[in-house]
Amino acid sequence: MSPPRGEAVPRRQFVNRLNDLSPREWIKFQKSWFVLNPPRRDAGVLTHPGKFPEALAEQFITFFTKRGQRVLDPMAGTGSTLFAALATGREAVGVELNPAFAAIAQERLARLAAELGESSPPWRLLCADARALLDLDLPQADYCLTSPPYWDMLRRKGFEGQRERRARGLPLAYSDDAADLGNIADYDRFVQEVGAIFDQVHALLRPGAYLTVVVKNVKKGNRMYPLAWDLARRLGERFTLKDERIWLQDDQRLAPYGMFHAWVSNTHHHYCLNFRKERERV
Ligand SMILES: C[S@@+](CC[C@H](N)C(=O)[O-])C[C@H]1O[C@@H](n2cnc3c(N)ncnc32)[C@H](O)[C@@H]1O
Repeated sequence: MSPPRGEAVPRRQFVNRLNDLSPREWIKFQKSWFVLNPPRRDAGVLTHPGKFPEALAEQFITFFTKRGQRVLDPMAGTGSTLFAALATGREAVGVELNPAFAAIAQERLARLAAELGESSPPWRLLCADARALLDLDLPQADYCLTSPPYWDMLRRKGFEGQRERRARGLPLAYSDDAADLGNIADYDRFVQEVGAIFDQVHALLRPGAYLTVVVKNVKKGNRMYPLAWDLARRLGERFTLKDERIWLQDDQRLAPYGMFHAWVSNTHHHYCLNFRKERERV
């Protein structure tokens, strides 16, 4: 029934069910690409060869969760996701295989929690194999943000940044552990093993929760392996693939790969693949 003539029409109240953002902040995130040049890393996290910036994690966490909700990262590295979760008032749960990275993450999180004092949300990081995620007795999570190894790319001769890391005496790969996904040489097996971890992530997320996976297509030999697209398809068997946001880096040095004889690009973008665990799958 419409209000009597002359009376103001009450404005419809919108309830933000997903996050705590204003409409302006919400719409900014809806652009399908963003430029983010990672700041210089401090000495501790430099030992990790494939870290994403906390600023990226913060963007995604504040979009896909509300304060007080719980964020999961099953391949936590030096803890960027967990750090950003705590810093923005979310609980954090993570798993990392490599004890050295897990120790760095623990130390960073403990320092942040001490700075936050009583307002620090609870957090938990386990040093374990994510392939056994469901055996770890983890609580249900409201969002998962993670990045798997980009296949065994760190071991590929001539991989970007390798020469510089060697010169600085930094590790070139995550570890020599047979359980390290970055040591699986067979591409199809790698996609299946990573896929099986996300089947378990699906079970750990509450219905309606989102998952973001940061990944890149990779080149090996004379061809590209569409890792981002293959994972999108594999994970889409259980989750609903919503879209991708493309993370662009425009501060990387260009290398003259293949100059004057073959087309080889400099790949300075990553895919942030967004999935949802639907309440009901249609
Ligand atoms: C791309 S890195 C993640 C980096 C992290 N997002 C950060 O910013 O520090 C992938 C991580 O997966 C870890 N990893 C490899 N195999 C694993 C497994 N089976 N279980 C848990 N973590 C694993 C590696 O040690 C590495 O730290």
